[in-house]
Amino acid sequence: MNEMTRTIGRPAGLGGAVDRGLVPQMLNHVAYVTHDVAATVEFYTRILGMELASTVMDDSIPSTGDPFPYFHLFFRMADGSTIAFFESPGLPEASKSTHPAYDIFDHIALQVQGPDDIRQWHAWLVENGIDVIGPTNHKDFLLSIYFHDPNGLRLELTTPLDKDWNCHTKQAYRDVELWVETKNRAQSEGRDIQKAMQDLIREERKRYTPAGE
Ligand SMILES: [Fe+2]
Repeated sequence: MNEMTRTIGRPAGLGGAVDRGLVPQMLNHVAYVTHDVAATVEFYTRILGMELASTVMDDSIPSTGDPFPYFHLFFRMADGSTIAFFESPGLPEASKSTHPAYDIFDHIALQVQGPDDIRQWHAWLVENGIDVIGPTNHKDFLLSIYFHDPNGLRLELTTPLDKDWNCHTKQAYRDVELWVETKNRAQSEGRDIQKAMQDLIREERKRYTPAGE
């Protein structure tokens, strides 16, 4: 074993949840830029069934003081969490991403009640002319469908297939340690980091495949 001691459950130097009674309680909102408030309201209320919860108009940003005028809208989900948008007059289109992977990895996932809901949502979205990918079964972890809102935001509707899907903490810390160690070692030994990570992924993904398959 190398000099870096492996700590089960919490890798040295990588932190771990500290209970100070101050854990964030829920998603309050995520916020994105829109260039079309009308289409955004239509999509989130009529298509996704979320209620328009609140709006704000201002001619500067309260937190920074920047003189950017805006209209801010919040759409509410069943648990009270929201998705928010800003339309700011005269704002140019955002720059394109540097690699198509960004347009897949960057997304927001909203939870629905079960696999049957996923099927109903799929039918409803298709009925409304929306391109939908899925349902995709993520290794019996989550069942999801994917589509885009009018702003190009990639959305996922998902339901857990594994009731403990967000409680695999011990394995998760082990994976973080493995990832960081592998990357650091490849770097310090002057090896190809991308190849080292791909080898790690190939080895680790075997755990999702039952023996004999
Ligand atoms: Fe996702």
